[in-house]
Formats: sequence, C-alpha cells, structure tokens
Amino acid sequence: METICDETASADVEKTAAGFRVRSSVVASQAKIHARYGGVVPEVAARNHVGAIIPVVDRALRQAKIKPKALDRIAVTAGPGLITSLLVGVQTAKAFALAWKTPLVPINHLRAHVYAAWLPMEIQKAKGKRQKLGKIKFPVVALVVSGGHTELVLMKNARNFKMLGQTLDDAAGEAFDKTAKILGLSYPGGPQVAKLAQRGNPQAVAFPRPMLGSGDLNFSFSGLKTAVLYHVKGRRVSPRETNDLCASIQAAIVDSLVPKTVAAATKYRAKTVVLAGGVAANRRLRERLGNAVSDHKLDFRVPDFSYCTDNAAMIAAAGYFGKPKDWRNIKVDANLPITQ
Ligand code: KG4
Ligand code: ZN
Repeated sequence: METICDETASADVEKTAAGFRVRSSVVASQAKIHARYGGVVPEVAARNHVGAIIPVVDRALRQAKIKPKALDRIAVTAGPGLITSLLVGVQTAKAFALAWKTPLVPINHLRAHVYAAWLPMEIQKAKGKRQKLGKIKFPVVALVVSGGHTELVLMKNARNFKMLGQTLDDAAGEAFDKTAKILGLSYPGGPQVAKLAQRGNPQAVAFPRPMLGSGDLNFSFSGLKTAVLYHVKGRRVSPRETNDLCASIQAAIVDSLVPKTVAAATKYRAKTVVLAGGVAANRRLRERLGNAVSDHKLDFRVPDFSYCTDNAAMIAAAGYFGKPKDWRNIKVDANLPITQ
C-alpha cells in the first residue's frame, strides 16, 4: 500500500523462483484535483486518500483473485513523503494487519523505487521475440530521480544503500515541474515537458548544466528554473518556442544526470546501473543513460514505465526485501532517508 503524495495505490505481488509476479497493481491518481492548484495541496491529498484507500485495496485483492487470509505480508510506505498522506496508508495498513493477523512491513519509498527494477520487465526483441532479463548483478549504482529526490546510491547487496551524491537544491522532477509551471503547462509538468520536447529543438537554448565539473557526485537544478524564468520574462512565448524550450530544458536535465551516474558507476566498479523514480519514465533519459552505460559494458536496468512513477507493485516487492515489525512500533517519517 502506498499513499506518500497524491496517488493511492495497492498491489499484489508474488515472489516466485524467477523473481516477482505482479498479480494486480491499482493506482488512483489525484493529479487532476491538484492540477487546479498548480501543485499538491497536502490537506486535500490526505482527504482524498481517506476516501480512496479501502476501495483501492479491495480492487487490488479482487483483481488478483486473492483472499486477505492468503496474504503472507502487508507492505506499507512509511516515508519519506507528506506526513498527512503517509498517515492514511500506515493507519489503514495497521488496521488490516490487526484484523487479518498478517505481518506488516514498513517500506522506504525511495528504496522501493529502486526495487521496481526487480519487477518483471519484458523487453521486445527483434522479430517479436521476447526475452527475459537475467538476475541483477551487484554492486549496483542507482540513480533515483523523483519529484522530491535526486540521489546516486551504491548497493553492495539488495539491502545495503550508501549515499554517493544528491541534489543540493531542487530535485530533477521538481525542475521539470517548476519550469513547466513557468511555461504555463499543467501539473505534473514532467510528462508535459517530455511530450512537447518531442517536437522541439534541444539545442535551441543553451540552459545551464551546473556542477558537471564539481568533482563530486552532487547535482543542482535550481539555476535552471531561474534561467527559464529570465528567458521568458515579460513576453509571450509561441507554441513552437514552447516546444523548443521544453526540448532544451529536458536536454539540460538529462545532460546533468548522465555523466555523474556513469562516473559513479566506474568509480565504484558497479556491474549494474539502475535508473528509478518518476523521472525514469523520461524516454530521453532512459535512452541517453542506457547508451552511456552500455558504452562502459555495464548492465542497465530501468523499470517498466508503469513501475517508474508512484505505484504499489514496487512497495509490495520491497516488502520481500524488508522485515516485518510489530504494528505498534511502526511510525511514519516524512524525511526518511534512503540509507535507513
Ligand atoms: O516518483 P514519482 O512518481 O513521485 C515522487 O515520489 O515524487 O515522481 C514524480 C516526478 C514528477 O516530478 C514528474 O513530473 C516526474 O516524476 N515525471 C517525469 C516524467 N514522468 C513523471 N519527468 C520527466 N519525464 C517524464 N516522462
Ligand atoms: Zn516516488
């Protein structure tokens, strides 16, 4: 179960010998409601979670054709996120755990984004043949890019997360969302910018790619927002120019992320690079990072599109990597870091 922000989600995932099987994955998004305000309003999000959570859990169970008694664990996101949203999921999960006598596992949302790469992913091969990917090899360097986080982490094994670098200000997703807002696009901005970028010229405007020469593995995106603001200030922007701006913004963000991820992978002798989080749904980022990683002869993993943005299949998968805890001792933590 997942309620960190403005998506109420529930899924049933089964651990199999080969990995995971997703039996159902239900996501009820409030994006349309928050679009009216230009961003997520915490109070409104929490109220909508209250209304959605039980029907969403019920639907996930029905679609999976599974009885509550047959569940061996309940996994629920305990942080990081909006505190009032998190509380709805955690309190509901506690009630279910108590009523059904099912072990409850608290989940770190950021780790779950990374575990989404362990969910089934079928790649389409030439001549329509499908091929399953092999096991993920460690060490893994993961780039987690979401609406609130941009982090590079090293995993020596599936339960060991070490922070290598992070954004010093805005997250990559935030950079997409804030620049989209400046251009008058609707919330959430990332998918909108990506869509219009397809029809634009990525070299139209040379927006900054800060920190590339910083010698560390950190990022910074707040300068991009300011640069876009100054670029369009006090004038009308034509639809054609909007496309060019979107392409240039997307290029600046992708160009900032790719070299440092590759640098981290080489420095820490990673065998696999994982790209995860909502921004991992961005096609240009998937393509650019995928190419750069394979140039270094490393494995590249990115979850299926539906498991990049917030969903509960990744939370359920994370439930198999985590440990059950007495429901009385499970607390929400709005600022839970990926390392805990
Ligand atoms: O992981 P996520 O669904 O929620 C958080 O945990 O924050 O990430 C949401 C972020 C938003 O900033 C959204 O604009 C961005 O992911 N996003 C994208 C795309 N799809 C979602 N950014 C760029 N291109 C996309 N296709
Ligand atoms: Zn997320």
